[in-house]
Amino acid sequence: MSKKRVGILTSGGDCPGLNAILYAVLKYAGSLNWTVYGIANGTDGFIDVALGRIDPEDMRIDEHSFDIPGQKGMGVLLFLSGSVLGCRGKKQREPQEDELICQGYQKIQLDVLIAIGGDGSLEIISELAQKGNWNLVAIPKTIDNDVPGTERVVGFDTAVEVVSDALYNLTFTAASHDRIMLVQVMGRDAGHLALSAGIAGGADVILLPELVPVINERIVSETCLKIAHIRQHKRKFALIVVAEGVQGESQDEPSAEYLKRQLQQYSHLHNSTGATGFYGLGEKIEIRVTILGHLTRSNRPTASDRLLATAFGIKAIEVIAREKDNFQRMVILQEGQIRDRPLAEVMSELKAAKSHSACASPVDPDGFIVQVARALGIYLGN
Ligand code: F6P
Repeated sequence: MSKKRVGILTSGGDCPGLNAILYAVLKYAGSLNWTVYGIANGTDGFIDVALGRIDPEDMRIDEHSFDIPGQKGMGVLLFLSGSVLGCRGKKQREPQEDELICQGYQKIQLDVLIAIGGDGSLEIISELAQKGNWNLVAIPKTIDNDVPGTERVVGFDTAVEVVSDALYNLTFTAASHDRIMLVQVMGRDAGHLALSAGIAGGADVILLPELVPVINERIVSETCLKIAHIRQHKRKFALIVVAEGVQGESQDEPSAEYLKRQLQQYSHLHNSTGATGFYGLGEKIEIRVTILGHLTRSNRPTASDRLLATAFGIKAIEVIAREKDNFQRMVILQEGQIRDRPLAEVMSELKAAKSHSACASPVDPDGFIVQVARALGIYLGN
C-alpha cells in the first residue's frame, strides 16, 4: 500500500470525542507509516498555509505529539474534550477564500483530508472538496445529533449524560424547595438532546422544536395543567426541559425565560380571576431557570463516545486504504455497524431535509423515543 499524506481538521462547534478521533487516526495511520498533517482551526488552517504563515512540515503530528510532558509517554487525546486542532473558522466564508483554501490543500500535497464536522461544516467542506478535487472522508460529530445518514454522531452521548446528570442534580434542590426547575438545553434547531436527556433525567415536561415550534397559550396552559396535576397527586416539585430551538417571543430572550414569564403570568391570571384549581396553578410556585449552554460541550467524553470516535477514526483510515482515487465518503453508524457511504448521498438528503425544515435530521414525531416519552406520561406539547 502506498504511503499517504493525510490532512485532518475539526470544524464547527466542538464536542466531546473530537480528540479521541484524532487519537485513533494518528495511531492507525502511524502504524501504516503514513504522514498526518493537523490542519489548525478548520479550513482557516489551509489559508494560513497558502499565505505562508505556517510551514506544512510544522503541521506534521503523530501519536506522541500530545503526550503530557514528563509523563512517560502518557497521551491525553482519548480522554480530552475540545479539539487540540482548534475548531475556529468562519461561519460565513468569502468566495475569494475558497481559492486560498484549495491552494493550501495543494501546498501540503495531501492525498486525502479527514474532516470532522457537523451538518453545516460538512456541507461547506464537501463543496470545497468538489471544487478542489480532493479525496475526502467526513466524520460526523455534534452534540445536536442532527447529521443525516448516520444513526449517531460523536459527542451526542456525552451531552446526553451531562444534561441528564444536571437534571438529576437539580431534582434534589427542587424537591427541598418545592420548586419548578426549568432547564434550557442546547441543540440548535433539533430536539434530540432535550428529548433523550429529558427522558433519562426524569423530566415531567419536554418541549422540542419538532413538536412545539413556538410557545403559545395552549402550551402554557397545558404545562400549568400538567404541573397542577403533579402537585395534586404526586409531589410538589417538577422538572421542565425546553430545547433552545423552541421559539419564545423574541430571539433575544432565552426560551426558558420566556416560558417562565408565561407560566407566572398564566397562574397569576387564573389566581386573580378565581379560575384556579386544576386548570391554574392556584398557588404561588417558585420557578427557577437553568440554562446549561456550553457546559454541555466540554465534559470528558463518555466511554460510548470514545468507542464511537475511535471506531470512526479507524474506519476513516480503512476507507482511505481501500479507495483508489476520486472519493468523498462519510463514515456512519448503521444498524449497529460502522460503515461508510458516499458523502454526496448524505449531502443530497441534507439539502432535501433543509428545503422544508431548519433541521437536517429532526426528531421523528412518530419515532419510538417520542413514544417512550409519551408512555412515561411526559408532556410533550401535544
Ligand atoms: O451545534 C452545536 C451547538 O452547541 C448548538 O447546540 C448550539 O446552538 C450552538 O452550537 C452554539 O454555538 P456557539 O458555540 O457558536 O455559541
